[in-house]
Amino acid sequence: MSTGWTIFISVLVIGNLIGVMWLLLATSSKKKTESSGPTIDGIESTGHVWDGISELNHPLPKWWFNMFILTTIFAAVYMYLYPALGNVEGSLKWTQLNQLEEQMEANRMDRAAYFSQFEGMELTAMQGNENAMTTGSRLFANYCSACHGSDAKGSKGFPNLTDGDWLYGNSEAMITHSILNGRQGVMPAYEQILTTTQIKEVSQYVLSLSGQQTNDALAESGKATFDMQCAACHGMGGEGNQMLGAPTLADNIWLYGGLVRDIEATVTLGRSGKMPAQSKLLSPEEARVLAAYLLSKAN
Ligand code: HEC
Ligand code: HEC
Repeated sequence: MSTGWTIFISVLVIGNLIGVMWLLLATSSKKKTESSGPTIDGIESTGHVWDGISELNHPLPKWWFNMFILTTIFAAVYMYLYPALGNVEGSLKWTQLNQLEEQMEANRMDRAAYFSQFEGMELTAMQGNENAMTTGSRLFANYCSACHGSDAKGSKGFPNLTDGDWLYGNSEAMITHSILNGRQGVMPAYEQILTTTQIKEVSQYVLSLSGQQTNDALAESGKATFDMQCAACHGMGGEGNQMLGAPTLADNIWLYGGLVRDIEATVTLGRSGKMPAQSKLLSPEEARVLAAYLLSKAN
């Protein structure tokens, strides 16, 4: 906040406070003046009469008056301790940001303390540990279900994590790597490289790898293209390559759909599935608990 605003705010706030005090003290109990009227029922009146009704000169109730003084003192003390006047810090140096950071730190400590019970525990042991599995399912619901589905079965473009078919492998190291560092699948687009006919042929060949009904003549002509263009990543028999995240094409499990048109679209336009890195949100311990949870669901 600029100094100009600070001065503006300070003058308004302090001026208001002084004004209120002055008003209170000046009017709390009117002095007897010449214009004062007669005493009615033992109480002095102000001399103002409307339609035969006289205004009495009552002082404010004591408790009310004292409350007013106390709130004013409270305001002054508050302004001294906390940042109330623009840029002025306040003697406690309190800020919302500091408070947030303290609370986040406390939360981190709590989480670390809780997760220390899983330190050094094997994933297989975690799968038999009720705490770990409940925690894993909560973490999954919070951080993963939006993309992978609440049952972890995924959807088009978002892998099913329960089918035992892993793009990048199911070792502890690979799963926690997927979670913490994210993944980027790169399937090149063949629009510019292959003709439409070649794409149709190679797509039929891909389908034949998992033993599906195909146009055998097309599939046969697609083999040469596959061996030359695709086998480097997907393997000669379509067995896939976990180093590249290239899916197995021979198992009839599809990330982007297994219809002829899905496969042709994949080959024509390419695909680039992105798993965002979670290392800013999750600790390595939390990723391990998640890995154990996923393995318990996969078979
Ligand atoms: C924004 C969407 C998104 C979120 C959130 C997300 N994922 Fe993913 N995840 C993906 C995509 C997309 C892929 C596939 C990447 C690819 O195509 O190479 C993937 C891949 C994976 C893989 C690799 C699967 C394999 O077959 O090897 C694992 C494991 C995984 N995610 C676990 C998780 C966990 C655990 C969480 C929660 C902490 C999570 N993901 C959150 C989108 C997401
Ligand atoms: C550079 C390595 C590479 C090459 C070359 C390559 N692919 Fe891929 N392919 C991938 C990767 C990686 C994915 C997964 C993309 C993702 O996760 O988003 C993929 C995905 C696919 C899929 C989708 C699989 C599914 O489960 O839905 C099909 C089909 C496919 N590729 C076929 C082919 C064909 C046919 C060729 C040759 C014309 C080819 N690929 C060449 C790396 C490659």
